[in-house]
Amino acid sequence: MSAAFRRPLFAGNWKMHKTVAEARVLVRAIVARGPCPGADLVVCPPFTALAAVGEELRGSEIALGAQNMHEAPCGPFTGEISAAMLCELGVRYVILGHSERREYFNETDAAVARKVRAALDAGLVPIVAVGETAAEHAAGAAVAKVTAQTLAAFSAASAQEIGRCVVAYEPIWAIGTGNVDTPSGADAVIGAIRACVPGLGEARILYGGSMNADNARALMAEPNIDGGLIGGRSLDGDSFVACVLASEHESR
Ligand code: PGA
Repeated sequence: MSAAFRRPLFAGNWKMHKTVAEARVLVRAIVARGPCPGADLVVCPPFTALAAVGEELRGSEIALGAQNMHEAPCGPFTGEISAAMLCELGVRYVILGHSERREYFNETDAAVARKVRAALDAGLVPIVAVGETAAEHAAGAAVAKVTAQTLAAFSAASAQEIGRCVVAYEPIWAIGTGNVDTPSGADAVIGAIRACVPGLGEARILYGGSMNADNARALMAEPNIDGGLIGGRSLDGDSFVACVLASEHESR
């Protein structure tokens, strides 16, 4: 662990789930589970539910996050959302470069880098997602893949700015499959990410991919893992908070 204390952080990535009414029910359930004093919590609903979820979070310690944004401040980009639009709704974090965006929406490393720059300029905290495919994993190429993605994503940011960012290591083969990475395997890759760009020593680096209340504790026991980016298990208030509480019992 680096000299600076890296407070655990858990972000719920709701993906394309929850209408506004459903989002209100879910976030109320998370808030009702009470505070999690040992960790920062972030919920990332779809764009349409950001305003309502932000309203429900008023007065709580839980932060609001978005799942994507466009890099331009405004312009003729039909269907896109800018950083300023997110900030106006009280958004503080934004997931950038999730593997689903890279795979289904052709998001490139260069685009992720531009988005990171725009997010930092707007005062948002980027949660930069990186990860290797099953084939890359099998070929022993995980570290090469994710360090290249990480270097590219932060190519337009200073070490000081990078220290305030968040990275999520999400092996693609582990996302939504139930095939969680081993704690030591995830820690080794995250250690390599931490070492590949100046500033990441201080940054929080999360693990993502089938994280749940049963495996969170062992993952969080690893020295380089500072929290989780949680998909499926963040769609239920009890199971999301259970992940956080399980890992709180792990003394670091
Ligand atoms: P999962 O998703 O927890 O459902 O595996 C994680 C993610 O895609 O961020």
